[in-house]
Amino acid sequence: MTVVKTRCVVLISGRGSNLEAILKAAGAPDYPAAVVAVVSNKVDALGLQLARDAGIPVAVVPNTDYPDRVAYDRALQTVVDTFEPDLVVLAGFMRILTPEFVAHYENRMINIHPSLLPAFTGLHTHQRALDAGVRFHGCTVHFVTAELDHGPIIVQAAVEVHADDDAHSLGARVLSEEHQIYPTAVRWFAEGRLHIAGQGVRVEGRADPLSAVVAPRLKAIV
Ligand code: GAR
Repeated sequence: MTVVKTRCVVLISGRGSNLEAILKAAGAPDYPAAVVAVVSNKVDALGLQLARDAGIPVAVVPNTDYPDRVAYDRALQTVVDTFEPDLVVLAGFMRILTPEFVAHYENRMINIHPSLLPAFTGLHTHQRALDAGVRFHGCTVHFVTAELDHGPIIVQAAVEVHADDDAHSLGARVLSEEHQIYPTAVRWFAEGRLHIAGQGVRVEGRADPLSAVVAPRLKAIV
């Protein structure tokens, strides 16, 4: 029997470790999503090689080739749409997106951010968490809306902040959680289990369907 998988186009700007985690998950025969293309705004993004090694089509749309954000996002959208995505997955895609681009992929574009949103939107989240003296830090997968690093939250993972942490050690602990929650969120989307309700997302089939805050491991999540 042919199983139709959810077509994911993954957008990256750099290392691609979240892409790698999703590719690894997608390698399982029963995973309901497939990465059909990887698109980058940086020609030298390390993650592009991961995609090539996996035999996945890649495309580079360099932002430096376009005069402004609107022109760039139009070109990006044209390229992304050639791969007919059901879901656009932002995995370290370090660009502010135009409202038009966001609207085009409404309810079918997700992002991962290295903080427990709505805290620490933007850059340098690990150092800012340390500077703020928070006891817990973490990462968030959310649907993308026009406001940067906002949008209905799908899943969060929290980690403890240790007394001897620096941004590097804390960031590494958070990244390891990112690699757990992002493939899980993609799977939930592909299974049709995510229902947006206002700023929240109900995850169908979970004992606690309104939120998904997990510290520090996802063992209990199905
Ligand atoms: C990840 O930590 C991701 O959460 C962050 O960029 C990193 C990309 O790493 N994204 C953002 O800060 C978006 N606001 P990766 O390329 O190894 O997946």
